Amino acid sequence: MHAAQPTSPDLYCVFGHPIGHSRSPWIHARFAALTGQHLDYQARLAPLDGFAASVQAFIAEGGRGCNVTVPFKHEAAACAHSVSQRVQLAGAANTLLIDAQGRIHADNTDGLGLVADITRNAGRSLTGKDVLLVGAGGAAAGVLGPLLEQQPRSLTICNRTAARAQALVDSHRTLAAQQKVELQAQDQQGLKGDFDIIINATAASLQGGGIPIPAHVLRPGSLAYDMMYGPAAQGFLDWAAQHGAQPRDGLGMLVEQAAAAFTLWRGIEPPAAQVLEELRALLAAAA
Ligand code: ATR
Repeated sequence: MHAAQPTSPDLYCVFGHPIGHSRSPWIHARFAALTGQHLDYQARLAPLDGFAASVQAFIAEGGRGCNVTVPFKHEAAACAHSVSQRVQLAGAANTLLIDAQGRIHADNTDGLGLVADITRNAGRSLTGKDVLLVGAGGAAAGVLGPLLEQQPRSLTICNRTAARAQALVDSHRTLAAQQKVELQAQDQQGLKGDFDIIINATAASLQGGGIPIPAHVLRPGSLAYDMMYGPAAQGFLDWAAQHGAQPRDGLGMLVEQAAAAFTLWRGIEPPAAQVLEELRALLAAAA
């Protein structure tokens, strides 16, 4: 009788540039431990001009799937053999699944992560609500489809560059009509109305910009969500709290998008809320 050979773990990674800051290896290691999955999830720096080659090298090593972060999400969608409807709409992917033939299927779990964090972890329904999405770059495009699928009453997009907000409205018009959502763009200057849920998807804080929207958009108790976390989100969260809104950072979105990717790869749902709690405690202890 031979002793059973220990099998090598299934290989996953996250590609980015930079990548050293990524919490994804820690999150996926916790998911794997808590669900008894045998996998190795690494952080990999891809050269700015070498994303597709890095993915091919990873596949040659036996890679089963990867996450993709800034600045490669568009390239990730472009390098795939097939893409989900979410990727088609967003034009960007954050999750690649690699089949036994080395073919790549691209998905995008960012929007699923945002929706899960708002509805499950923050306990706020989007359905029937007035939602403001601030920003119209890649981060906003990645979440718009899943937000519309929650059937808010209205979804307003505003952006420093108005034409980009209008382009997102145009590309999501059919989905909005199917979901019976009033989807519109508004000028950031002279933004009108107030909202139940305000989502900051801009990089304004990283660019040294202030809060790009007026405080009257907040209702008492509005949820003011920044898709970033840590110091990059603090200015927006402080501003929201000062005006009576409920602030929430994007740490839960980070964990939930990872959980959705893990579920696509492994067919098993990890305990995201528990891992979010652990990560918050870890970051608080390190601060
Ligand atoms: P990402 O992938 O993070 O969304 P992006 O595609 O470069 O990156 O988009 C950045 C977003 O932040 C855009 O909505 C951008 O507005 P513009 O389309 O007008 O560039 C927004 N943004 C960046 N700096 C900003 C600032 N100082 N004030 C307001 N909005 C800002």
